[in-house]
Amino acid sequence: MINLDNYLTEWTEKIRHTIGSEKVLLATSGGVDSSVCAALLSKAVPGQLICVFVDHGFMRLNESNEVEAAFSDKPVHFIRINGEDRFLAKIKGVADPETKRKLIGEEFIHVFEEEAKKLGHIPFLAQGTISLDIVESKNIKGATIKSHHNVGGLPELMDFTGIIEPLSGLNKAQVRALGQKLGLPTAFVNRQPFPGPGLAIRVIGEVTKAKLDTLRHADAILREEIDTLDKKPDQYFAVLTDTCAVGVKDDTRTYDPVIAIRAVSTVDYMHCEYTPLPHELLGRISRRITGEISCVSRVVFDVTSKPPSTIEWE
Ligand code: XMP
Repeated sequence: MINLDNYLTEWTEKIRHTIGSEKVLLATSGGVDSSVCAALLSKAVPGQLICVFVDHGFMRLNESNEVEAAFSDKPVHFIRINGEDRFLAKIKGVADPETKRKLIGEEFIHVFEEEAKKLGHIPFLAQGTISLDIVESKNIKGATIKSHHNVGGLPELMDFTGIIEPLSGLNKAQVRALGQKLGLPTAFVNRQPFPGPGLAIRVIGEVTKAKLDTLRHADAILREEIDTLDKKPDQYFAVLTDTCAVGVKDDTRTYDPVIAIRAVSTVDYMHCEYTPLPHELLGRISRRITGEISCVSRVVFDVTSKPPSTIEWE
């Protein structure tokens, strides 16, 4: 059982001792893990942290602006890079999810490396890696479940004196609790987890700007509707499948993609149960998605637990 106060004290000392008066770079995705990591570092070594936010263009609706806004009043040097075009070009024509993950991870490293060069030599790199990332990226019985892109990559390629991963001993719930101890707003630390490659892995098959926009719209409707619930699932999102289905709109036959809805209840994100959303809510979500997005033919709801499925569809 980890005592978070002790963990915080130990890591604060460790970070101060390691970094001294040098600067430290943090690649932030804007998600909970890297934000808590940023809060911890800025508390331990105020004024020495530089956050680089690589916006790969696979974020949810308005999310990149929200991330930028969240950092605007923090005593850190925050740099946002808009990389949508180059990331889309990098995965053009790629349908395989693991290949997408690897290519996005590679491009992320290139963009980050380019930016880091402009900043001059910074000896330390911090990463918001948590225990789940390490477990799921390890080879289990010969098969990696998935390559979490915040594990590996940067440290091997770039010349850092040291890598700091202050959250690597914590699970998601502990990271959230630590974030609150560090003074981050409750709503912010309780945000849903979001995969490093973002919506690129929630568009099944080849990713295009148009598909991303469709998914962003469906996902925004889903989130708006779920926000009306008193008790929300731990994670919920829309997936743009690569299956088309026949439909009928305005007396005309259509043949458009199917959107899948995922909503899960979980403690550790290693296991989950699907959340039985009220039927009335599901009906409203379906009516809104098919009504407001002209190129979606129908909406299905995923009732699978993990295992045997995973949370993401990929
Ligand atoms: P799966 O799909 O493996 O997901 O059941 C477990 C949890 O991990 C999140 N996830 C990621 N988080 N980088 C992350 O930081 C990633 O690349 C990544 N991929 C999946 C997923 O959303 C779920 O909460």
